[in-house]
Amino acid sequence: MDALHTILVELHSINRWLILFLGIYVLFIAGRGWFNGRAWRERAGQLGRYFLILLDIQLLLGLVLYGIFFSRQGGFGHVSGNPASRFFLMEHSVMMALAILLAHAGAYFVKKAAPEGKYKRMFLFYGVAFLLMLASIPWPVMPGYGRPWLF
Ligand code: HEM
Repeated sequence: MDALHTILVELHSINRWLILFLGIYVLFIAGRGWFNGRAWRERAGQLGRYFLILLDIQLLLGLVLYGIFFSRQGGFGHVSGNPASRFFLMEHSVMMALAILLAHAGAYFVKKAAPEGKYKRMFLFYGVAFLLMLASIPWPVMPGYGRPWLF
């Protein structure tokens, strides 16, 4: 169980960087398309879908990690006295799940939009989701629950 846990945490941590780098690229493409009034290209929609795939992988890994973390902590009993438990069992998981949901909603609304409104919706939905993610990552500098840059 320990080895499995280590592998899952490492995959979750590596995937964070793939998400962040691809997210920056997606926002660059969407922002450039919106601000420069470019014609919609299906390649941008495809890029957004790759981003969602990485997020879904992260959600799956996160759910398994949540189960392990939850059972090791003995449930929610230690949440109030332990910043790391509170952060991972509540803030991190809830905010990340919301961010992933928002990105999926964004993909849906981009699909429904007229071509001239697609880049704008893509930029706004993925942008807010990206900011939520940035704010909920356990960066090394965070007191009590910071985690390494990689592992
Ligand atoms: C874009 C979404 C997400 C990102 C970028 C992200 C990022 C991270 C990072 C960087 C860590 C620290 C890894 C390490 O210790 O090296 C972590 C830990 C964790 N994440 Fe996420 N996460 C995301 C989504 C989720 C979701 C949706 C859940 C739960 C439903 C979740 C549950 C957890 C748990 C429980 C841990 C602690 C694992 C442990 O140490 O046992 N994460 N996450």
